[in-house]
Amino acid sequence: MPSKTFYITTPIYYPSDKLHIGHCYTTVAADAMARFKRLTGHDVWFLTGTDEHGQKIERRALESGKSPQVFVDEIVDWIKDLWKILDISYDDFIRTTEKRHQEAVQAIFQKLYEQGDIYKDNYEGLYCTPCESFWAERQAKDKKCPDCGTEVEVVAEESYFFKMSKYADRLYQHIMEHEEFIQPSSRKNEMINNFLKPGLEELCVSRTSFDWGVPVTFDKDHVVYVWLDALTNYITALGYPHNPDKFDKYWPADVQLIGKEIVRFHTIYWPIFLMALDIPLPKQVFGHGWLLLEEGKMSKTRGNVIDPQVLVDQYGSDAIRYFLLREIPFGSDGTFSPEALIQRINYDLANDLGNLLHRTLNMIHKFAGGVIGEPIEEGEYDRELKELALATPKEMEKLMDQLQFSCALAELWKLIGRANKYIDETAPWALNREGKRFRLNTVLYNFVETIRIVSVLLQPFMPRTPQRIWSQIGIENQEELHTWESVKSWGLLKPNTRVEKPEAIYPRIDVEKEVEKKTEKKEKKKEKNKDKGEKQLTGNEINIDEFAKVDLRVAEIIEAEKVQDADKLLKIKVSLGDEERQVVAGIALSYSPEELKGKKVLFAANLAPVKIRGVRSQGMLLAADDGKGKIVLTGLNGDIAPGSRVR
Ligand code: ME8
Ligand code: MG
Repeated sequence: MPSKTFYITTPIYYPSDKLHIGHCYTTVAADAMARFKRLTGHDVWFLTGTDEHGQKIERRALESGKSPQVFVDEIVDWIKDLWKILDISYDDFIRTTEKRHQEAVQAIFQKLYEQGDIYKDNYEGLYCTPCESFWAERQAKDKKCPDCGTEVEVVAEESYFFKMSKYADRLYQHIMEHEEFIQPSSRKNEMINNFLKPGLEELCVSRTSFDWGVPVTFDKDHVVYVWLDALTNYITALGYPHNPDKFDKYWPADVQLIGKEIVRFHTIYWPIFLMALDIPLPKQVFGHGWLLLEEGKMSKTRGNVIDPQVLVDQYGSDAIRYFLLREIPFGSDGTFSPEALIQRINYDLANDLGNLLHRTLNMIHKFAGGVIGEPIEEGEYDRELKELALATPKEMEKLMDQLQFSCALAELWKLIGRANKYIDETAPWALNREGKRFRLNTVLYNFVETIRIVSVLLQPFMPRTPQRIWSQIGIENQEELHTWESVKSWGLLKPNTRVEKPEAIYPRIDVEKEVEKKTEKKEKKKEKNKDKGEKQLTGNEINIDEFAKVDLRVAEIIEAEKVQDADKLLKIKVSLGDEERQVVAGIALSYSPEELKGKKVLFAANLAPVKIRGVRSQGMLLAADDGKGKIVLTGLNGDIAPGSRVR
């Protein structure tokens, strides 16, 4: 049986400048969806590309002293590199300057003209060049573009017009009858109330005042309006109208992803063009929200952009992809900040996922010689874990069909959280101590089987991480364990598989150090410029006054207990002689609460209080960390009263 097809598109981006993290947002979402559908057995076609014509690009090229073609070629190369480092698995990349597209646009324009949908007249009105958008006087109040706020230009030229009004009723009816066509539904209401109900203006579909566009074949002074040129990419890339094999196979599109600012073009102009061409409409247009910076919308025009290549260099593409998909409910606006990104990396990737893998492999080495044993003796908690593991794929699929990426990932993290809890519930170290070998083997097996299922489900979102997990759990070459089919049943992992020594897949990032690094870099630069002759410091030195700012004391541990739902954390009460303090320390994997009692350690006493997992913490126990999971508390070479100063 031929598999079900799935066609998904992104907007084609303007190569007027380098793209920013906002463009990556749409493209990463489309990629995750495409990968998810491939994983679940669909025949997927995933299209992205570039929208290279129009007045904006022509002007930008002129400003930079290049011909438009040379100008866009350079940026398109850069964009393709970006998609490569972000692992974007597009099946086709369409450029509107390609011959295959231009010829198709010319044929489309001609057909629409011949059938009487396009006619010639004079246009007088307003134009927003950044949006490549026409406006009437009453729409552009104070001569400002209602979409982007830029000052509009007055345009008066001979133009071809498209009879939008002829199709308005049909479009209205289609929208009303197809709940799923415009998503989220709030955008649908906006289109109906703001554009369809007041009546559609006829649309100007050609320009004569510049040249950078697809020439109208029968009237050489005109180039096709850039939005008619651009929107048709979704079908010309499939070979419409001249080589329609792919078009017949994949059209209508299953999902067209766009940002909310271009919903109007995609749910009014685009469906009307399709109706005029007698082509079915896409099943769904999804207008997602904006990625904002704390100071507002990121945009090429405003220049306040985040360079995605720098982020990928710094944190890796999987972490960036995870953040984009997990942080913001798809459809809503969300804020990007480096702190939020680091938090996601530390909590979700390093703690939840990374520790699950790390602890599991550690225990298999410590208790079972590095080999996964046979799951013979079932016990308490097993059923709950298995049932959740088997329910997760279905739940994720349902959410993905609604494009709820963040919810789908939250489901997966529920399973990760359940597995972490299962470690505490089953306490393998106790099973080992008590010599309960069969039960211990079963429990260890269940950890790895859960990790395997998690890793398979992670693939669409983070394409690199699963490979790293598979090689650590020893199933790198067992492709049958990486499939969607393989997560429908529990227990496919083969006993006697040898696992590797754990290697942190996501080391924790120290937010403060990260900020320091940046300031240091700046300081260093300043220093260099200021005094080139002076001996350079490494940038890591501090002076004695800075060191003295830390109030180091001897602290005696009075009591300790586990922090609920946090495997690594202990809540610890210490005495500083005349004062008691409560701190939260990430040492639960290395010390049990009982053994800590009475220990004297070094203590940083003047840190600002913080809340960790809802528990107040004031100060810090000093401990050494070998970066491989081993943590050893500092001690003293002799007895001294708690509260004593260290300097
Ligand atoms: O509009 N947050 O291209 P464009 C979220 N060429 N998404 C963002 C974003 C942000 N801050 N900034 C950009 C065009 N995007 C036309 C499209 S399609 C036939 C022609 C994403 O380069 C989002 O998908 O201005 C938005 O719709 C698109 O980039 C706009 O890219
Ligand atoms: Mg834009």
